[in-house]
Amino acid sequence: MFDRELAKASQAIIRALTEQGLPTPQRIDWSPTPFHGQWGFGTAAFFQIAAQEARRGKGGCVPERAAEIAQAVLQAIGTPEGFSRASVERGYLNLYLEPGLYAKRVVNTILAQGEDFGRGHPKDERVMVEYSQPNTHKAFHVGHLRNVILGGAMANILEFAGCDTVRANYIGDIGLHVIKWLWCYRKYHPGEQPQGDKTRWMQEIYTEAERRLEENPENEQEVRALFAAWEARDPELVQLWERTRQWSMEGFQEIYDLLGEHFDVIFYESEVEEPGKRLVEDLIARGIAIDERPDGPVLIKIDELLGLEKETYRTLVVLRSDGTSLYSTKDLPLAIRKFEEWKVDRSIYVIDVRQSLYLKQIFKVLELMGFEQARNCVHLSYEIVNLPGNVTMSSREGTVVLFDDLIREAFARAGRIVELKNPSLPDDQKQIVARAVALGALKYAMLAVDNNKVVTFDWDRALDFEGQAAPYIQYAHVRANSILRRAGSIPQDATFEHPLEASEIQLLELLARFPQEVQRAAAEYKPLQIANYVYNLARAFTDFYQHCPVLQAEGAAGAARLRLTAAARQTLASGLRLLGIEAPEVM
Ligand code: ARG
Repeated sequence: MFDRELAKASQAIIRALTEQGLPTPQRIDWSPTPFHGQWGFGTAAFFQIAAQEARRGKGGCVPERAAEIAQAVLQAIGTPEGFSRASVERGYLNLYLEPGLYAKRVVNTILAQGEDFGRGHPKDERVMVEYSQPNTHKAFHVGHLRNVILGGAMANILEFAGCDTVRANYIGDIGLHVIKWLWCYRKYHPGEQPQGDKTRWMQEIYTEAERRLEENPENEQEVRALFAAWEARDPELVQLWERTRQWSMEGFQEIYDLLGEHFDVIFYESEVEEPGKRLVEDLIARGIAIDERPDGPVLIKIDELLGLEKETYRTLVVLRSDGTSLYSTKDLPLAIRKFEEWKVDRSIYVIDVRQSLYLKQIFKVLELMGFEQARNCVHLSYEIVNLPGNVTMSSREGTVVLFDDLIREAFARAGRIVELKNPSLPDDQKQIVARAVALGALKYAMLAVDNNKVVTFDWDRALDFEGQAAPYIQYAHVRANSILRRAGSIPQDATFEHPLEASEIQLLELLARFPQEVQRAAAEYKPLQIANYVYNLARAFTDFYQHCPVLQAEGAAGAARLRLTAAARQTLASGLRLLGIEAPEVM
């Protein structure tokens, strides 16, 4: 926001250092200083210079020398243009701004940039985020929900931070579970069409298959025969598989539409199976994989290949002894395809934490194959979701909490809350609001917990209007909106010359930080960073709203606060948007 002024100051500093015959750094980094009556920016550049000197044998105490250099530079440059004061404090050179000037700049920048406030400069980097990855012929449950929400938010953040972002899905459309499904369908439901919620219907047949196989284990024989027919690509079976897979895909699409998710590319396990088998042959030929067929599988002894004594990557099986494929068979060619066909520079996998070792193995094997881009593969892991009543989740036993059930309950609960809070709202409005609140509550509950910690989902907490939850944040947005609506219009400009209240200072400080928060969340793969940020911003705004009159404010303060309110509304909406959460106008 003060890039121009800081760049000029940096130039002056480098000039001063050169003139004094001191080493000059490539660039001067500035970071905001905490508010002490004034805002400012400080640089620790002189510590590096002093340390450099010390290394060259000049000796001396680094902090003291840093302060000395900083002082000399300050003497030379004076107070740089655009700042009100410059000083050296504990070796740092700090530049300060008049609070009114700072406030005005922050607010003007936000209102001029609007939705683009916080957007990073385009980076010359293409990133793929693979997420969601449900299996066809099976349920879409709460664990899948955390994945989509986390992956979607991560993709939004990377994109906003300036990366060319590709959203990828990877559908599990083959495997034993599909064969079991097809077996059950052909035998007990021939010709049937999905009824109602497609995903639920698909899951029901799958659960039935599992149950029937458990009750009559002799049926395994038929399943095995079907698997063989599948391996031989029996045309009729392939056709049935394609038709039924489509039902699952339609069901998933309904879920994505509801959640506001979209994908730029959909990979299928079935399309990488053959390339995977070929790749395994190549690995055997190159002596990377050991072929123990028919008595054993094809495997890669990673630790041995790396000469590691300590068990680290262990052994990865890449093909079953009967020659059928595994996850690993398919993940290897898929990883390569992402880089080669999609020309990505970085490849992020949003997959649950239980697969951490597995992904380390895959990335390591790629490296062993000489695939250099392996180092640009990243696992963004996440923990499971616990539901009230501690329902464990297994699609085999049919004890999953289905997405559809969860969404239904969310809508019902949010509907009751909206009814209670705002009974006079027209019915169609109520529905729109309830939907935004319900989806927001679910999404925020998943995102406001570190991805490596278990989410213990709780309705009361997710729908809390007072605590750290989506409705509280959405409500702050609604409040800002209603002030602005009552004001009629937002003043074109305002000076911030009134004495700033503590709550105004806090709000301004948070607003100014949004661009950095975006960069940090992107760099650290932490949507949580944004989830916390928007909550803190909502709190700061609520605090401001409670302490500072806006519409009733005297003189120039009124216009300034209206513009500040508009800036807060904009930034709350932008932050929520990154999380995939709507910011309603009314509630
Ligand atoms: N469909 C798989 C499952 O549900 C997850 C796939 C994860 N992605 C990957 N590239 N392995 O377990």
